Amino acid sequence: MCGIIGYCGREIAAPIVFQGLKRVEYRGYDSAGIATLSDRSLLVKKGVGKLDEVNSQKGLDAIPGNIGIGHTRWATHGGVTEPNAHPHCDCSGEVAVIHNGIIENYQELREQLISNGHRIASETDTEVIPHLIEDEMKKGNSLKAAVLAIAPRLEGYYAFLAISSREPDKIVGARKGSPLAVGISDQGFFAASDALAFPDYVTELLPLDDHEMVVLTHHGAELFDAAGNRLQRDKRRLTSRWGEANKQGYRFFMLKEIMEQPRVVEDAAAQNKELFTDIALDILRAGQVIITACGTSRYAALVGRYLFSKVGRKFCDVVMASEFHYFADSVDKDTVVLAVSQSGETADVIEGVKEAKAAGAKIVSIINRPMSLLEDISNHVIYLNCGPELCVAATKSFLSQLVVFYLLSFSMINAFDKAVNNLKRISSEVSKTIDWNNDKIERLSHELKTKNDFYYIARGINFAIASEGALKAKEISYIHAEGMPAGELKHGTLALIEPLTPVAVICPDDYTYNETLSNAIEAKARGAYIVAISDRDNEIYDFWIEIPKVDELLYPLITVIPLQLLAYHLAVSRGYDPDRPRNLAKSVTVK
Ligand code: M6R
Repeated sequence: MCGIIGYCGREIAAPIVFQGLKRVEYRGYDSAGIATLSDRSLLVKKGVGKLDEVNSQKGLDAIPGNIGIGHTRWATHGGVTEPNAHPHCDCSGEVAVIHNGIIENYQELREQLISNGHRIASETDTEVIPHLIEDEMKKGNSLKAAVLAIAPRLEGYYAFLAISSREPDKIVGARKGSPLAVGISDQGFFAASDALAFPDYVTELLPLDDHEMVVLTHHGAELFDAAGNRLQRDKRRLTSRWGEANKQGYRFFMLKEIMEQPRVVEDAAAQNKELFTDIALDILRAGQVIITACGTSRYAALVGRYLFSKVGRKFCDVVMASEFHYFADSVDKDTVVLAVSQSGETADVIEGVKEAKAAGAKIVSIINRPMSLLEDISNHVIYLNCGPELCVAATKSFLSQLVVFYLLSFSMINAFDKAVNNLKRISSEVSKTIDWNNDKIERLSHELKTKNDFYYIARGINFAIASEGALKAKEISYIHAEGMPAGELKHGTLALIEPLTPVAVICPDDYTYNETLSNAIEAKARGAYIVAISDRDNEIYDFWIEIPKVDELLYPLITVIPLQLLAYHLAVSRGYDPDRPRNLAKSVTVK
């Protein structure tokens, strides 16, 4: 979702800001823009499309000036249009603002501004900010004082950066509920929604909390509280960063990330035994354990719930993060909340975790991206170690999450080392699954690419894999797909099965095989085209995706692979870019 970055220093700002935006491109966006201050003038360029497209049309990286702010927008309020792209300006063209978050009371503010004579040029919630600043500056306030004055009027959550040609030596930033990292270097000072936006020479961070603001000048970065008092903070070394990720010869990041999975299993299993033992003890001792997550991470959590019960004999619940608030009454200091989030930035997860923390719960986060908001509010953090995942559709982070849950469940029975050994062996089975099936699934995708509805069924530990397979198909191939426990099919969805409707049946040769097969036969009797993901052949399959035989608790790490490949090949054979699905963002920073 929206990415913001500002630079103030000796260098020409626009190319630095542009490269910063490129580094946060993975978050997902639909338009982009940059504003700079040069010779006491405000210069703004913006447009719709990918950064390189907007740059070649508008010359984003060629704007002069040593102070610049840049933005990639993921539309929330107002369509994907040039006027709605950031930066947004005031009536006089003196103030420019970029923003990540949502101003919930923007309609009310907008009406007040219009009745006071302001001309509003966009449909966005953001645009109220530069106009409010304009009013404050007209009263004689400095840019910093103007931001301080308007911040309490903004309901919702935000991280924004503002510049004004009246004060052409600074950038003023403020945050409430959305991330804003402040970076320090010899070449200048930075603020961004994501420290990964900073160039490599930024080696130090200044921590900025909610309701605080930052003023960047050529001389430094100063932090202030909501009353405008100067804050003294120790700098933190910027230790973790992700290297440049490229496609390494693959056509799409998604395929590259699927192919990386044998290695990913090993990297995710390289964990600290003491940390896992401590967390496992906390889980076992807790009065209740809740796992919260969204999307793919939630499906990993559902596998985790199963493992906790089967291995650790500890029941826990999985609450969709966007619904967590409605169950928050039951959270107390005897609760352990595990928050699972690849990005560590998902607004729904962050909100639930904050609420749980306020109620006294212990927070354990399972995160991939370093330096995230979630990291800051957790008691313990487990990293997935799978490196940058740039395709919007999660693949390798999901596998890593499964590895972490497997290790946690075995840590509950004091068998961390055994779990690590089991996982070492599974890495080659993941490779085999890819090698045996990639070409075959590509052929299948051509056969099925015109189908509009897919169903995915499984039982037990693999049920969540059926849902994950369906989610992958929906988000990148734009096919209507549903995943469900195989036993549920006959309770309604079976009515939708028509001749040749594809039904993917995940039926490893384990204790669920016979019952899952019975459900597949019921679907077949209604004409379904059965695509089986199994290590055991059966005459009822129309298409068999063969997988290796593994321990029953490890099947999810294997059965998900063909479903990722199927979604990928379906997307490509239908002519879509799997890395950048329409309407979706990698980091979902709005509620
Ligand atoms: O970064 P998170 O793991 O918190 O993201 C959660 C979901 O937004 C994410 O898994 C989403 O469902 C993916 N696009 C699925 O591929």
